[in-house]
Amino acid sequence: MAAVDVPVALLGYGTVGAAVHRLLEESADEIERATGHRLRVTRALVRDTGKDRGFSPGPGVLTDDIQVILGDPSIQVVAEVMGGVEPAGSHVLELLRSGRPVVTANKQLVARRGTELFEAAAAGGVQLRFEASVCAAIPVIKVLRESLIVTNVHRVLGIVNGTTNFILSAMEEGRSYDDALAEAQRLGFAEADPTEDVGGLDAAAKTAILATVAFGSRVPLEWVEVEGIEGVTLDHVAAARALDMHVKLIGRATLVGDRVDVRVGPAFVDGHHPLAAVEGAFNAVMLHGDAIREITLEGPGAGGIETASAVVADMVSVVGTTGTGFLQNDPVWRHLERLPPGDLTSPFYLRLEVEDRAGVLARIAQELAAESVSVAQLVQQTADDRAVLHIVTHDAAAGRVNAALTAIRALPEARGEATAIPVISSRGVAELGWA
Ligand SMILES: NC(=O)c1ccc[n+]([C@@H]2O[C@H](COP(=O)([O-])OP(=O)(O)OC[C@H]3O[C@@H](n4cnc5c(N)ncnc54)[C@H](OP(=O)(O)O)[C@@H]3O)[C@@H](O)[C@H]2O)c1
Repeated sequence: MAAVDVPVALLGYGTVGAAVHRLLEESADEIERATGHRLRVTRALVRDTGKDRGFSPGPGVLTDDIQVILGDPSIQVVAEVMGGVEPAGSHVLELLRSGRPVVTANKQLVARRGTELFEAAAAGGVQLRFEASVCAAIPVIKVLRESLIVTNVHRVLGIVNGTTNFILSAMEEGRSYDDALAEAQRLGFAEADPTEDVGGLDAAAKTAILATVAFGSRVPLEWVEVEGIEGVTLDHVAAARALDMHVKLIGRATLVGDRVDVRVGPAFVDGHHPLAAVEGAFNAVMLHGDAIREITLEGPGAGGIETASAVVADMVSVVGTTGTGFLQNDPVWRHLERLPPGDLTSPFYLRLEVEDRAGVLARIAQELAAESVSVAQLVQQTADDRAVLHIVTHDAAAGRVNAALTAIRALPEARGEATAIPVISSRGVAELGWA
């Protein structure tokens, strides 16, 4: 059968855009064999049409005028790989409204403007796919939207930011936070301004998208409780290792009854847990559901060619299913309320520094008990004039743990910082062993 020629356009021809073009050209035969279509990039929007490009776009492909793409009725799919919320958002909206399917790699756009984008897609009767916006090459959105269509997914746990995972892995080898960050920047895993990554904002956008798709209810970015890794010290990393755990930046979305909790922050992950083995710049997402128990997907979460592979797969899926009504819908089909952030329960690791004298431990126990925080394990170390208490609690409400810490910090015997970090373990915390 003769191949069907499919003209496509790119918004952006940078790291990802050029890699999408390269993959479409180099894998054209494979794509044709699998789908019967040959996707051909006929237009690509850039700011500077005169710039040298890594993979040649070919004559006449680059344009700095979006109207050239909007006004070309032959273009059947557009991949938005330019980044930023504007003007990318306006361009995508206009394309969808005019009946053009769009594929995007832009997590900020999907997390911030999902509602209007999906309304426009529904109104235009076209698909909006966004696999590459979460964990690049890992096909987690496809798994959630297509493979797990009849599974009630109630928890998503993920290491969704490679930069922070690289830094935390390097800290386990004894490097300071600053050293590890500098190394990540030198190797190209961290931006010159790393705030979005180390502050947890990148992970928050991805976790909001995952929660929205997993639970079928819009999770606005403002609902995500975010804590970055800037406060993680080598003391925390050493304490985790002593407990056979690893400090990881975890994005987690939990369905509690019919309410949703979404948060990003450092966690102590039990060495026996699948996420504990995810090292360096890799990403992983673990899905818990009624029929599936758990599924873990792991792989490279960034990089031009890795991200482009997800963009190309989405473009091919759109071409293959256009006109069938498949996935033309908004992934959102219900409205769930937010769980008050203090209500989420979890075991916690507490690190407390206190005066080293008789009776102090009893005061700490009293403050924890006053907030119904029950201790599963406790180890005391003496350092100079103070005692460092390492405590693992049973399941406790996050708000009550914070209230207990506030009370403990106010005790006259308190010395130094008092921190609480959630523990992620699929065996009970009482099973965790101190090294
Ligand atoms: N790189 C990754 O590893 C990765 C991973 C996952 C997701 N993503 C996402 O993929 C998207 C693209 O990332 P990237 O790394 O490829 O970015 P990039 O290298 O900076 O490329 C951006 C491209 O968009 C064009 N562009 C930007 N603003 C424009 C505007 N206002 N008008 C016209 N053209 C404009 C640029 O044109 P010029 O070339 O003329 O400047 C450039 O070609 C982002 O949403 C990013 O978050 C990237």
